[in-house]
Amino acid sequence: MSLSVVIMAAGKGTRMRSARPKVLHTLGGKPLLGHVVATAEALAPARSILVTGHGAEAVEAAFAGNGRVFVRQMPQLGTGHAVQQAVPALPDDGVTLVLNGDVPLIREATLRALVDACGGAKLALLTVDLDNPFGYGRIVRTPEPGDADGIVPKGYADCVGGAVQAIVEEKDATPLQRQITEIYTGILAAPTKQLKAWLARLTNQNAQGEYYLTDVVAHAVADGVEVCTASAKDETEVLGVNSPAQLADLERRLQRRHADALMEAGVRLADPARFDLRGTLACGMDVEIDVGCVFEGAVTIGDGARIGPHCVIRDARIAAGAVIHPFTHIEGAAVGAGSLIGPFARLRPGATLGEEVHIGNFVEVKNSTLANGAKANHLAYLGDATVGERVNYGAGSITANYDGANKHRTIIGADVHVGSNCVLVAPVTIGDGATIGGGSTITRTVAPGSLAIGRARQVAFENWSRPKKQPK
Ligand code: UD1
Ligand code: CA
Repeated sequence: MSLSVVIMAAGKGTRMRSARPKVLHTLGGKPLLGHVVATAEALAPARSILVTGHGAEAVEAAFAGNGRVFVRQMPQLGTGHAVQQAVPALPDDGVTLVLNGDVPLIREATLRALVDACGGAKLALLTVDLDNPFGYGRIVRTPEPGDADGIVPKGYADCVGGAVQAIVEEKDATPLQRQITEIYTGILAAPTKQLKAWLARLTNQNAQGEYYLTDVVAHAVADGVEVCTASAKDETEVLGVNSPAQLADLERRLQRRHADALMEAGVRLADPARFDLRGTLACGMDVEIDVGCVFEGAVTIGDGARIGPHCVIRDARIAAGAVIHPFTHIEGAAVGAGSLIGPFARLRPGATLGEEVHIGNFVEVKNSTLANGAKANHLAYLGDATVGERVNYGAGSITANYDGANKHRTIIGADVHVGSNCVLVAPVTIGDGATIGGGSTITRTVAPGSLAIGRARQVAFENWSRPKKQPK
């Protein structure tokens, strides 16, 4: 049975009050639509069709590729009108799964169950029972005997009978229908051929003057096609994003999922409510992560490593036993086993640290290799440098790696001591075991084992009197 997926992503998202199309707002560091597309494509559909409209160029640019088909909906006249735009791209056979671009946390297993329930013959709706169903389309079922108003008690979906008759939108519902707590999630699966016929019959005779996709239910009932429901495991997977507050709520729910999975695997999070992952995080055994850390891109942390509070770590490898002290930023870097980094350190792309390296407060390292046991403990810059084993790089010292046009390398041999407040003007090489006197500006090669001093000599003016303040 060939499966087509239609994802509606044309709406304006008025309540976001944003210039950015709603489906491009990010959740866990990824656009809302990116979550939906990834889950849909995990079903290996024969085709995925994205309906774009508001901000179409930006949305299409962000999701082009992978055989995706885009259809434009201009103007946007409702969810039924959105799916109508996809009709020319749909074959007559098979099943169509319709997804909402703003319902990001739907699970693959739930979608599979829905498509199975459809079975190529029924109209299958994904529904859920909500304590507060306000704003959602309500599932209207046949009344129970003696219950003439069409309202069914909570959990009725599991009861015998009670066939689905229609979906009624909040704005069109009677006060009694508004009491129904079973809601439509915006996700359905239907035999494509029949879906096309029902779409052709939609009208906009309703409170919002829109073509509602939800009206296909009444048409299915009229055609004698069975309407069935599948339900989501938890409400998180069917919550939609319409406002910044809802986006923030879903973000916390997603982060809680991440945190629970990590803790399940043995990671000790100081507080799962103060943890943010915007990518992937793979941890070894006995990893500890303190509060307020943000992990982005692909990060791996080795056995027994500890991450202090308020660190931002992106695309990095942190080896076993390393300790990252508070307020450290790491991006595109590798930290060797047993290294101590921070507090307030910054490792930039291309920083590759060996074992037992110490990088202290206000030290910046970029595109540099530091061999085992090298130390730069205070207020320093290492850019485009190759640093040997056990080097001690003094407070306030920097590599002057940029001549205003090009970058150059600084090579520092093993066991070199660089005093405080030195400027190493690249390209320059310092031989093994050399010592650089504090306050030096080094522009030429330093031989191994030598002492190099490059600074003005101290002069003294005896009985010097400091300037006096002039009377006003
Ligand atoms: C819709 C359902 C409602 C359901 C709810 C679940 C209808 C009529 N109502 O309501 O029963 O409970 O979702 O979240 O379907 N879109 C377009 N083009 C349009 C209008 C919308 O592409 O012309 C897209 C939006 O970008 C969005 C999705 O369709 O991704 C849902 O649209 P929205 O306006 O948010 O529908 P709801 O009012 O939430
Ligand atoms: Ca919505």
